[in-house]
Amino acid sequence: MDVNPLDEILACRLDESRRKVEPCTIVIFGASGDLTLRKLIPALYHLFLEKQLPPAFRIIGFARREKTHESWRNELREGLTRFARSGQLDEEVWEKFAAQVFYCRGDLTQPEAYQSLASMIDETAHEPLKKNLLYYLAVSPSQFGQVVEQLNKVGLLKREEFTDRFQRVVVEKPFGHDLESAKLLNGQLSRYLFEKQIYRIDHYLGKETVQNILIFRFANTLFERIWNRQTVDHVQITVSEKLGVGSRGGYYEEAGAIRDMVQNHLLQVLSLVAMEPPVSLEAESIRDEKVKLLRSIRPIAPDQVRENVVRGQYLAGEIDGKALPGYCQEAKVHQNSNVETFVALKLYIDNWRWSDVPFYLRTGKSLPVSASEVRIRFKSTPRVLFAAECGQNLDTDEITIRLQPEEGIQFQFNGKVPGTSMEIRPVRMDFSYHSEFGAYTPEAYERLLIDAIAGDATLFIRSDEVQAAWQLIDPIRQGWKDTPIDSGEFYKAGTWGPRSAAELLQKNGHSWRNPKS
Ligand code: BG6
Repeated sequence: MDVNPLDEILACRLDESRRKVEPCTIVIFGASGDLTLRKLIPALYHLFLEKQLPPAFRIIGFARREKTHESWRNELREGLTRFARSGQLDEEVWEKFAAQVFYCRGDLTQPEAYQSLASMIDETAHEPLKKNLLYYLAVSPSQFGQVVEQLNKVGLLKREEFTDRFQRVVVEKPFGHDLESAKLLNGQLSRYLFEKQIYRIDHYLGKETVQNILIFRFANTLFERIWNRQTVDHVQITVSEKLGVGSRGGYYEEAGAIRDMVQNHLLQVLSLVAMEPPVSLEAESIRDEKVKLLRSIRPIAPDQVRENVVRGQYLAGEIDGKALPGYCQEAKVHQNSNVETFVALKLYIDNWRWSDVPFYLRTGKSLPVSASEVRIRFKSTPRVLFAAECGQNLDTDEITIRLQPEEGIQFQFNGKVPGTSMEIRPVRMDFSYHSEFGAYTPEAYERLLIDAIAGDATLFIRSDEVQAAWQLIDPIRQGWKDTPIDSGEFYKAGTWGPRSAAELLQKNGHSWRNPKS
């Protein structure tokens, strides 16, 4: 039977012409760490499995512990059996992949270590593997400066606009702990690298659903015209996690929820949801708009923090019938810690599109569910017809972008309940990634690593973006400074944060919509 062309689905692939993956060597600093085992190697293995890595590549792990190539490969193999998203390891593929994996023992602080690395990089007859170098800094930010300096000294890294090769550095979060330290870090990196050579990671940008925010907004005619203060009443962004801080107490004591989640992941999601259309799909155009958006957020001055920001800390409680400790009982946490494990805040974006529309953001540990979503709540209809009859009982329309889990987009609007009476209630239209595309969802790190290899910086954070984000966070932290968490700020594990989080919205006649799963 002939297929009517109109019935065919039109699909367009954008990156075919843009994404060129050249043979390269990937050096991972911090090769003995958790990130390498859980995320980086599984991501590289899957990219290899799916034939996305360049035809020739090498992975060199650099760390202090005594290991051989073989013993490191064995560790990684064991890690993959636990962390590979495909579940089972394909032995044949692993053998080919492992043959390109090497270990370089060295102390980051010692110049000789970089000499050994240089010799190892040189040990190949394949020129492109010596010329194209991607350094992944999965180490503490306090070591970034030292690593790039030493790489530069041994001739492995230059601040140069290469045309026939590449040298790039990927850095993990946290990028600084406040504006000043972020500026310092940017300064240290930019002595040896052009901004174009620096790839700052925020793994939320590697998530399919987060990338889809731009497609949803700018590849459709329907949504963009209602995406403004005329139609949108307010926006809620929730990133909730069931788990407490677990074994990361030491790190978390330094970070707290505002630095761990809000400064990066939540503000990144917010900027994609609220930014203006970029002039092109080039990385710089998109990043320009994100920075513009961050700069249009009305800063919350230290003396306005009480009004606009709620913090919380979890006490012992229960989730799914399981008893959980309070934050102060977690390992490596001070028993009178003042660190927040929950934050809710109200932001306003002072631009033409969003003036007076509240954006509520919240995130926390030990909450009832693990879910991340964005809810766009629309204004009520004029108070005539159904609204006049139903009053408060007529719900408003809503679009929910479910970032994880149950990835998808849901549109909720009012409909008539079938029957002889006139009953109105919200009904839903659902787009689910799983039903539309099947179970396959690549890990964020796969996308980010392949983009860094290909030199596409769209999903990485530019220096002015990091700084704009810290500029918003610093005064909030100043507002909290020295005020101990008080009794009203604690919440039981397994609840939706302190009561004041609900009150923050009630002041504006709003209420949180909690994710379901
Ligand atoms: C990390 C934070 O950046 O993101 C963690 O340091 C947090 O505290 C994690 O748990 C959440 O990421 P995801 O992808 O599980 O939502």
